[in-house]
Amino acid sequence: MSATSVIGLQWGDEAKGKIVDLLTPEHDIVVRYLGGNNAGHTVKFDGETYKLSLLPAGILHRSVVSVIATGVVINPKAFLTELDGITSRRGDVPPTQMLISDRAHVIFPYHIAEEAAFEKARGGNAIGTTGRGIGTCYRDKAGRTHAIRMADLIRPEALKRRLNEVVPQKNQAIKALDPSMTPFDADAIFAEYTTYADRLRPYVTDTTAFLHRAVRENKKLLFEGAQGCLLDIDHGTFPYVTSSNSSGCGIHSGSGVSERVINRMIGVVKAYTTRVGGGPFPTELLNETGNRIREVGREYGTVTGRPRRCGWFDAVATGYGARLSGVDCLAVMLLDVLSGIPDLQICEAYDIDGQRVVDFPSQVEDLARAKPILRSVPGWTEDITGVRKLANLPANARRYVDTIQELIGYPVQIVSVGPDREQTILD
Ligand code: GDP
Ligand code: IMO
Ligand code: MG
Repeated sequence: MSATSVIGLQWGDEAKGKIVDLLTPEHDIVVRYLGGNNAGHTVKFDGETYKLSLLPAGILHRSVVSVIATGVVINPKAFLTELDGITSRRGDVPPTQMLISDRAHVIFPYHIAEEAAFEKARGGNAIGTTGRGIGTCYRDKAGRTHAIRMADLIRPEALKRRLNEVVPQKNQAIKALDPSMTPFDADAIFAEYTTYADRLRPYVTDTTAFLHRAVRENKKLLFEGAQGCLLDIDHGTFPYVTSSNSSGCGIHSGSGVSERVINRMIGVVKAYTTRVGGGPFPTELLNETGNRIREVGREYGTVTGRPRRCGWFDAVATGYGARLSGVDCLAVMLLDVLSGIPDLQICEAYDIDGQRVVDFPSQVEDLARAKPILRSVPGWTEDITGVRKLANLPANARRYVDTIQELIGYPVQIVSVGPDREQTILD
């Protein structure tokens, strides 16, 4: 058995896409198993930039099969737009090369409208979602009565029946929150979605059966995480989270493949911390250093273009993410962004109401009161983007990576010093 998983240990955007792209050639199958087009994975190579949302980053390699498994929520229009973008740049993606789960749930326009109405109703406490209808689609999945899955989408009679049941009720629910809304028309949605279904049908299959067969045949699987541990619906900074299990906990439920097949669980971390959307962020830097990190690291959301909130590396939060996911090792990304900052800080504990706390708080109200207890690590001034060996890093950069390793308690096996594939130190 040989499977690898790539999990973000912070609040997302840890550069999982780069690691997946790097590891894909060693694998046969890449599996996306959670989230939807809320994810934004940027991959750079040969001077080209690819932005992937729903398609696994593995799609850029023709040697592997890409699987969009059961736990993903799919906006068919967004999916086809992305597929067409990839096709125009890298050629056709035949159904043998990409499989979509018939159990995956489908996002409809009313999910997006419903989410907008919920967010508006929360006012200043809005979750700050990506506005893609992700949470409202998962809400329908958990509620069951209003859910529509890929298997229903590709069967016109089932789709028509389900839309006729669901759409009038959705109109009522959304209107209660937003009286100005224009009601959705079940027939119009049916007409639009059957055209998507016609294109998607060849790709839709029982991906769980496919993956079980692949495991039996000793194929090499790569699980591509989306979002990050602290956005996990059960274990993250609830309610400022996404609506699925985005820590390692979600691999099994989202793919249908036991995590016991995984022999390398890579926890991906940024050398600092970013967060998009609402919720507490103890090490946030609302100052020049935060702005500098945002500009040098180009910390603007791939999906929404929102400026990402930036702060120091938080070993309490990240260590929690690592333990939650059961990682074997760490990949420390974007180390180059910190070059030139004279006095770096790493949060090693929180001060909450005068108490030193090292366990990540379960309640956001407590996290909001947490003041970071910071350890100073001297910075470096050298440009490190050309470094390819740990031994060639400036002593202080090495010390910085060692401090992360010591505080998190897992070995650092990958260090990234730039967005390109080549700008990677593999220990
Ligand atoms: P993901 O969602 O976890 O895949 O991460 P994103 O793609 O949203 O954000 C990571 C960004 O950092 C992307 O724009 C990458 O091209 C870029 N990136 C990846 N690794 C490095 C690195 O080591 N240094 C720098 N400067 N940028 C990097
Ligand atoms: P990748 O895969 C960063 C955040 C949103 C918001 C919260 C809920 O690129 O790391 P949602 O639309 O999921 O209901 O929004 O989760 N969020 C992400 N933040 N990276 C992501 O994905 C994210 N996906 C969702 O900003 O705070
Ligand atoms: Mg991202």
